[in-house]
Amino acid sequence: MEWLPVAEASQVGTRPLAVTAAGIPLVIFRPTPDADPVVFADRCPHRLMPLSAGTVEDGRLRCAYHGWEFDGSGACVTVPSQDSGPPPRASLPAGPHIKIKSGLVYVAANELPSPDPTELLTNEDPALLRAWHPVGLVSENPEKVRLMGRDYVVADERTQERWGMIWLAPEEPRTSLFEDPDLDDQNYVGAWLPPARTPVSAGIVADNFLDVAHFPFVHEKTFGAAEETVVEKYDVIAEPYGCRSIQDQWFDNPEDPGVIAGLRPVRQRRRATYVYRAPFQLMLRLEELDAGAVKTILFFAQPESATSTRIYTKMLFHGIGGVPDPSADVVAREVAFEEAVLEEDLELQYRMRVPGLPLRMRDELHVRADLLGVSLRRVLAEFKTAG
Ligand code: FES
Ligand SMILES: [Fe+2]
Repeated sequence: MEWLPVAEASQVGTRPLAVTAAGIPLVIFRPTPDADPVVFADRCPHRLMPLSAGTVEDGRLRCAYHGWEFDGSGACVTVPSQDSGPPPRASLPAGPHIKIKSGLVYVAANELPSPDPTELLTNEDPALLRAWHPVGLVSENPEKVRLMGRDYVVADERTQERWGMIWLAPEEPRTSLFEDPDLDDQNYVGAWLPPARTPVSAGIVADNFLDVAHFPFVHEKTFGAAEETVVEKYDVIAEPYGCRSIQDQWFDNPEDPGVIAGLRPVRQRRRATYVYRAPFQLMLRLEELDAGAVKTILFFAQPESATSTRIYTKMLFHGIGGVPDPSADVVAREVAFEEAVLEEDLELQYRMRVPGLPLRMRDELHVRADLLGVSLRRVLAEFKTAG
């Protein structure tokens, strides 16, 4: 049997370590400080997040994205988004055998895991030519822009302006921009976040935006610590090249003036309406049902190249802090908070490896909380194959 060296045994501890053998990414760690090292494919079965970005506690490896936990044998022991326990396929496939010799850890070359899936929607997929894409803020006055790995001169192309942005469609678009009811409402105060960049594909950015199960794990420092880990059952309504979902959630609202005045409990109900339109138009409308505030987040992704996506976030506010039009400092605070939230997502995205959104259902493991993500994949698969 052929053995491949992957690490020095002394460097393997309870902190998961990313290594490769014959080009295959592996994660290696000790479940407890004195235990023998264990090794698995460096890929969470859920959303393919590298497990090496996770942490080990009490003998279990916890994935950094949605907190699924695996014991030293690879068995999945916790899926926090549901109280019914992990689904049968959630466990990690057995990793290659290992041996330790002369202070080095070796893995069996003929037992390496399969490579990452390749049926993906990448940022340079030709199907994306037939769509509207954001290419810059009107205030940026872009002349030449990057889309799907190519440069476009804005003046030469099919464009339109919407939400203070320039939109460009390289070929006849399959679908239009979605309607935004808040735009016509003069009661809303709007504010932009500075556009941001991420190395992951626009499909993954969209998936992340539609995902609520990651809040307690990725957004612990901003709002996630107070979030329920269990995601209440929700429905998704299919729309042409898109979908919509209305979810009622519990959350803590310590800044509500009604809470400060003792009129309402800090634990309140919130209605979250998600709207998605292919390929990368997203909206989240958050209505605080007890406090009366409404916050809308418009979120768009520009697939610039195989390794770069630009993210545009616009926020609309109404009734924040108990007044219809929030003042400039309230808006600035809300925008700064949202930037901090986005920063947490971006930080994790730098750890992701798969260069596109998987479109084959069996390449990931979907649980109840992932209904929106499943709809996204269906819509994009349909978009990709439409004639
Ligand atoms: S728990 Fe690992 S990707 Fe979701
Ligand atoms: Fe997030």
